[in-house]
Amino acid sequence: MKMFPVYKQFDIEPVRGEGPYLWDEDGNKYLDFYGGLAVISVGHSHPAFVRTIQQQMEAPGYYSNAVPNRLQDEVAERLGKSSGYEEYQLFLCNSGAEAVENALKLASFQNGREKIIAFRNGFHGRTSAAVNVTDNENIQAPINRNLDVEILPLNDFEALAETFSDTDICAVIIEGIQGIGGVHIPETEFLQHLRKLCTENGATLILDEIQSGYGRSGRFFAHQFAGIHPDLITVAKGMGNGFPIAGVLISPDFEAKSGMLGSTFGGNHLASAAGIAVLDIIEKENLLENAGRIGDYLISNLQSISGIADIRGKGLMLGIEFPFPAGEIREALLYKQRIFTGSSSDKNTLRILPPLTFTEDHAEQFLDALTKVLNYYE
Ligand SMILES: Cc1ncc(COP(=O)(O)O)c(C=O)c1O
Repeated sequence: MKMFPVYKQFDIEPVRGEGPYLWDEDGNKYLDFYGGLAVISVGHSHPAFVRTIQQQMEAPGYYSNAVPNRLQDEVAERLGKSSGYEEYQLFLCNSGAEAVENALKLASFQNGREKIIAFRNGFHGRTSAAVNVTDNENIQAPINRNLDVEILPLNDFEALAETFSDTDICAVIIEGIQGIGGVHIPETEFLQHLRKLCTENGATLILDEIQSGYGRSGRFFAHQFAGIHPDLITVAKGMGNGFPIAGVLISPDFEAKSGMLGSTFGGNHLASAAGIAVLDIIEKENLLENAGRIGDYLISNLQSISGIADIRGKGLMLGIEFPFPAGEIREALLYKQRIFTGSSSDKNTLRILPPLTFTEDHAEQFLDALTKVLNYYE
């Protein structure tokens, strides 16, 4: 048997990681400006993170949600504080798509409606409802196209007003910062307007912070720049620094009914311990402030490199757009400069999502490498 080949891969296999670096079998060292797709929030093999997982393995590592679990309670309490709204309730699951699936289900349970508004270039996962609200028909199977979904242009106030006036909306789902779509930011006023429209119309506002959350933007959640409280917030990726854990933050007016949501593995002891270790490290190492500062440093220095068409994003979630496809730049960065970066569905945009522990030195290494690669293409 072999793996079902659904992933386009480079032919480098990392076998060791430490902080922002990865090594292959031959001992070559790589700088990880991709963070394993925004997952490695506190760095590879962070000693405090490794120690926590090792200790939890003996403590027990797993038991189901049939028993209370104080580690889950701690994740909920700490995440509530980080969100700036301690009244949120938490449901824990295992992956981003599962969090989105549960958020959409909760919205529909809450108001009994069906129509969802999502946005152009948005990505929310590959499971049934999540892929249905994702703006990419190529990854939707015919059985996925059964929700009543309207995809609107991002930051288009008029299109939004028109759709809201037409019918009762169940939920609006929007990324804190669009990731896979090429790093596009919802305007502050647009998010504030969405909050107002959802409140006035009894619709649920879902902020997908799976990629933009956990400090990546320089705030714990990217929507905090707009000062709003969404009804539901989805989290995953950076939450477990590679250990699978995801969740939905749920506004206090949502009432839980036994069995309405559930998961065998969701919030298990190992996953919750990983989640606590990540929150500890983010706090102790002041990583929100660091992500904002290094992001600003990168943006201001990228502006002086010629051959770049646009720079978008906040903190350590940046999209660098070139006036040509970014694929060759990405390959040259990896094979000639030993730096991992990410692609996006906008073929000209390179995505960078490094661990939040990055320093000015790491940023300099990237800026130098990118300058060399672009000089080669001039
Ligand atoms: C914004 C956003 N939502 C949802 C998902 C789906 O997460 P997962 O791959 O863990 O299912 C992703 C994954 O990239 C994402 O970026």
